[in-house]
Amino acid sequence: MSQAIAQPPRATSFDPADWRILAALWHPLAFAEDVPPGQTLALRLLDLDLRLWRAAPASADAFVTVLDLCPLRGANLAGCRVEDGALVNPHTARSYAADGACLSHPAEAGLFVVRHRVTHGIVWVCLAGEATHDLPAWPELADTVTLKQMRLPPLEWACSVSREIENFMDVAHLSWLHTGTFGNRERPEIPAYQLEDLPGGAGYRFAIRYPRRSVEAHCDDAGTGQVEDLTLDYDLHLPFCTRLVIHFPDGTHYRIYNFAAPVSRRRCRIFMRMARDFDLGGSAETSEDLQRRVLAEDQPMVEAQRPEEIPLDLTEEFHIAADRLSAAYRRALRDLGLGHPLSS
Ligand SMILES: [Fe+2]
Repeated sequence: MSQAIAQPPRATSFDPADWRILAALWHPLAFAEDVPPGQTLALRLLDLDLRLWRAAPASADAFVTVLDLCPLRGANLAGCRVEDGALVNPHTARSYAADGACLSHPAEAGLFVVRHRVTHGIVWVCLAGEATHDLPAWPELADTVTLKQMRLPPLEWACSVSREIENFMDVAHLSWLHTGTFGNRERPEIPAYQLEDLPGGAGYRFAIRYPRRSVEAHCDDAGTGQVEDLTLDYDLHLPFCTRLVIHFPDGTHYRIYNFAAPVSRRRCRIFMRMARDFDLGGSAETSEDLQRRVLAEDQPMVEAQRPEEIPLDLTEEFHIAADRLSAAYRRALRDLGLGHPLSS
């Protein structure tokens, strides 16, 4: 049985009102396959230290997330091991069940269990217990027949989660920031695009044509590659899930999924999955390597953005036609109630 965490930790970096809104969202914590049997993972989310383990190695869904806090000593749960699905603390000679109850001393306080779910191969948690927003369905993420599924190890960037999401959706920077990978500096102008609402107000979608220089599987080296006319099809599922589908001229597709979690006010963790419907039997290395190089171009710029939190007052930053998504995103975050100032 999970419990709800209603209040932010005392030393939170967030405005408390923002923290409560963010606590009522699903946030990605770890790739399910990264949680090793028998061991625990320490992870921070919204300034809270959590500990995650797999209660039953054979079951894909048997995960447990607790506050990383020993009820006896107030210490963290480092050094604990998992035996027969229970968490064993060798420092206190106590063991805890998957529901948090103390097995060895039933009268004692147990662990504080946080609500979790496993979706898209990721363990997600909702600190408040009840989530105000659902996760995107994106069923193709379970397709291992017609798609080659790939991913990067989780990344941590020193920026607010909303800055990272906004950058992923930003098309104005493609031609000047990504010149080492796919950017076409001869074609910097991005046409204004139409923004569509996703069903149920879940977010936004838009598409642009982009003449990228050819790289990666379809490719020559950056700098010598020929120009390929792509369609870039973006989805933003509010507030922190994004998908980009790249349509190649030969009818194939490459998909990038960006799920981001607020570790603290100015730190986020990024879970990136990719999928392609070509070269199914080939190695993932080329795609993963290109993805890493593209992100290496983005990271320093995003981490250097000031103010660190995106301003929700649209008059605070200069906007151009290619920023329609950004303007809508900021309005949506403000509608969520964030912005004291925005500290996600
Ligand atoms: Fe970028």
